[in-house]
Amino acid sequence: MAKVTFQPAGITVECADGTSLFDAGALAAGVAIETACVGKGTCGLCRVKVLAGAESLSPYTEEEERHLGNLYHLTRVRLSCRTRVSGDVTVVLAPRRGRGPGGS
Ligand code: FES
Repeated sequence: MAKVTFQPAGITVECADGTSLFDAGALAAGVAIETACVGKGTCGLCRVKVLAGAESLSPYTEEEERHLGNLYHLTRVRLSCRTRVSGDVTVVLAPRRGRGPGGS
């Protein structure tokens, strides 16, 4: 079993090893991970930033590199639907940057 904590809500869910972060989020009430493809790895919207437990996650995939580039070592951002857990992790929802108020 693994424990996945989603910030900023501070919601923790227990799930079986091998569960994707996306599915773990679906188990946790109040965690709304952005998606258009519902976990198929094609929309690139289900981004989470890894805060702790990176060693308990599956390796970075080609689909992630296609959507996120090869800067994981700097950004710590993963696609939740492509990332499977094997231990305790903490992530924060990391929606794609858009033009927000005051942005330039
Ligand atoms: S849900 Fe679409 S890429 Fe993950």
